[in-house]
Amino acid sequence: MNIYPEFHRFLQREDKESLLGQRGIVVWLCGLSGSGKSTIANAAERILHQQGRFTTILDGDNLRSGLNANLGFTDEDRLENIRRISEISKIFVSQGIITFVSAITPRGELRALARERLGNDLFEVYIKASFEACEQRDVKGLYAKAARGEVPNFTGKDHSFEPPSQSDLFLDTETSSVEECALSLIAAIERRITPASPSTGLQAH
Ligand code: ADX
Repeated sequence: MNIYPEFHRFLQREDKESLLGQRGIVVWLCGLSGSGKSTIANAAERILHQQGRFTTILDGDNLRSGLNANLGFTDEDRLENIRRISEISKIFVSQGIITFVSAITPRGELRALARERLGNDLFEVYIKASFEACEQRDVKGLYAKAARGEVPNFTGKDHSFEPPSQSDLFLDTETSSVEECALSLIAAIERRITPASPSTGLQAH
């Protein structure tokens, strides 16, 4: 392939992070459709924004109406969906941006792909709600459609969801409110997004 990736001439991540006064991270929220991923990402982003943090949200549904519009819900398409989201996240985190990803990411293989691409920049959060709870909420009316057999490969119905076993954080939206989840999430990443304080030359006693 005649492709020559070039990075050394570009401004470095540290330059972007010191401009922003924060460190970049990819907060990857996985869980069933309707579990609360986007709602929690939105709530956490608003709080961080008020605190002067620079954030963005990569939302599976939104990306599927643009960049990923040519992808469906087969195993192969979901893999490509997650590969693309991982690569965009990688670009954003390298600019020092606190990047929320909201995507079902239903299998271990998909989460491993994200981890392989993002390494230590990935902070995986499992947003847990049972299929029954999501079906009851049915914000988008998709569970009703799926029950009528109108949504092929529907996650949790005819396409499996493997609960993550190694997430960095686990939030149960059946027992905690959106605000509680958002605050727990922010507390969990606080240390990771705060820049190391510049040395003052003074030693604590
Ligand atoms: S993922 O499995 O590839 O990670 P992604 O998060 O991008 O999925 O998209 C999921 C969203 O697509 C759901 O929130 C829902 O609104 C919509 N959707 C449409 N068809 C399906 C389906 N068969 N299974 C799951 N979600 C679907």
